Amino acid sequence: MRRLVLITLLVLAAAPAARASDVTRGEHLYGEYCVACHGANGAGANHGDRKGPPLRGVGALAADFYLRTGYMPLREADKQPRRTRVLLSEQEIEALVAYVASLGKGPKVPQPRPERGSLSDGQQLFTDHCAGCHQVVAEGGYLTGGIAPPLSAATSTQIAEAIRIGPYVMPRFSPSELSPHGVDSIVRYVQWAKHPDDRGGWAIGHLGPVPEGLVTWFLAASALVAVCLVIGKRQRRE
Ligand code: HEC
Ligand code: HEC
Repeated sequence: MRRLVLITLLVLAAAPAARASDVTRGEHLYGEYCVACHGANGAGANHGDRKGPPLRGVGALAADFYLRTGYMPLREADKQPRRTRVLLSEQEIEALVAYVASLGKGPKVPQPRPERGSLSDGQQLFTDHCAGCHQVVAEGGYLTGGIAPPLSAATSTQIAEAIRIGPYVMPRFSPSELSPHGVDSIVRYVQWAKHPDDRGGWAIGHLGPVPEGLVTWFLAASALVAVCLVIGKRQRRE
């Protein structure tokens, strides 16, 4: 029994130590990949093509989002960050997130619970706040000054993170603008919309009722032409 207590105490003592070593590792990685644009201790930098915002207080939330989407490390400072293949390992990402979080008090990585959200609320909120730029979930859209990417690759956590950060030209939504329940609902809707149920209507690239209507008109028009041809032939024969 005493040994068990001792082991438990050792494990408890080791946990914060592991986190401290994560921060140290993260600091090394930061020196390698990030310091040129984000400056010493995340103070920010602004010299030529090496510029980046300060990272103090952006918290684990922003670091987790920008690293796991492959937005960072950015190659050219004046280009819009884009989703790319993540070249850092899981351990390297954890270490960098721990280091950025240690730079100042900031938000933690959110844990959305889409199962608690409402699909119809989510659809309404998405239409009101997101569709102006992201249009249909899987398509994305062009804006002046940037591209709103399709949301099909975004995980639930990344959707919740993007809402609070507002990356690039996207606006940020504070909890008073979008409650945690609102976020859960949007996440639920976006995840649902990635695999819309194709049983109702035709799956013409998930484009919805307008093209479906067009195709119906096209088929109807073709049928009319066919009927006219048949009538025409008959008349010629008579
Ligand atoms: C070539 C320059 C460059 C490099 C290298 C770079 N960044 Fe960035 N970073 C930027 C720019 C520019 C932005 C602002 C992008 C935007 O407006 O969305 C940014 C934004 C960020 C943000 C969001 C800040 C906020 O205010 O929410 C985080 C977090 C971040 N970078 C982390 C990193 C980490 C960690 C690394 C190293 C692995 C890194 N960056 C490497 C230029 C760079
Ligand atoms: C003003 C236009 C605009 C609005 C409104 C907007 N976004 Fe965005 N969103 C963007 C842009 C631009 C990016 C790309 C950011 C970048 O490259 O750093 C983005 C990126 C994202 C991403 C990351 C996608 C990826 O895979 O790279 C998610 C998730 C996201 N937005 C969700 C939302 C949600 C949910 C809403 C509504 C609550 C919303 N956005 C509202 C413009 C917008």
